[in-house]
Amino acid sequence: MPSSPFDAKTIDDVRSYWNARPCNIRHSNKEVGTKEYFDEVEKRKYFVEPHIPLFAEFDRWRGKKVLEVGCGIGTDTISFARAGADVTAVDLSDESLKIAARRAEVFGLTDRIRFYRANAEELSSTVPVERYDLVYSFGVIHHTPHPRAAIEQIKKYMDAESLLKLMVYHRISWKVGAILASRGFRFWALDKWIAENSEAQTGCPVTYTYTKRSVETLLSGMTIESMFVDHIFPYDVEKYKAYIYIYIWYFNILPRPFFRFLERRLGWHLCVNARLPGGKGE
Ligand SMILES: C[S@@+](CC[C@H](N)C(=O)[O-])C[C@H]1O[C@@H](n2cnc3c(N)ncnc32)[C@H](O)[C@@H]1O
Repeated sequence: MPSSPFDAKTIDDVRSYWNARPCNIRHSNKEVGTKEYFDEVEKRKYFVEPHIPLFAEFDRWRGKKVLEVGCGIGTDTISFARAGADVTAVDLSDESLKIAARRAEVFGLTDRIRFYRANAEELSSTVPVERYDLVYSFGVIHHTPHPRAAIEQIKKYMDAESLLKLMVYHRISWKVGAILASRGFRFWALDKWIAENSEAQTGCPVTYTYTKRSVETLLSGMTIESMFVDHIFPYDVEKYKAYIYIYIWYFNILPRPFFRFLERRLGWHLCVNARLPGGKGE
């Protein structure tokens, strides 16, 4: 009997999916690999997801060691390096890593970033085990078939002073509600529908979602310092694809403070700060 909805999925399924369409690759229609392209990708990402820089606190890591698990095409990687951190960035997807490495070249940050192609579930078999000030993983662990294995690996790179900043998808969210509604409230296939529809490209092989309670289980053995939810995507998707930012009518008529209220309760991103036990915050 399978014990998770994604037991039949392999790490190769996950790699193939992200190789076929690296995350955020269409955030600009400029030529991939150019400075203009990367500038637009960054601008769009932080415009649509303004909570990311607030959560990552890039400037806080100047002169510190950051391990980024699942760097994708490297938007946050560059932000950490540009802020003065010494970054190790890991991803499963060769295509994503190629773009991220090119990005480091374009911005003259190659001496601040080491890239590894590695599976987070077996991180220590590729990435030398050393202590990091920050382990950062935004939108990644929920896409691996065995998230708990990835967390156990991440712990090897932390000591009592290290911080883990983790974002996983939130189950009690507007997005999950919308997916469920679009599928006629067929709760029994919910995990399958979520994975199908969680990303810009349909058919993601693995997408787990977490409640505040179940993320505690995922991180068991660690101390959760804080967590919050944020991010409801409010834009008309067709216009968004054309780089036009217009709210869907029902979000448009909501007073902005009420929309923010909803985001902080039913947002899609569950952002967690956690440490190993005995760790002391700053
Ligand atoms: C939604 S993207 C997020 C990328 C990046 N963190 C960002 O915010 O732009 C998910 C990324 O996780 C990577 N990934 C998924 N499973 C992984 C694993 N087991 N090990 C390493 N990377 C993984 C994928 O290749 C993909 O680049």
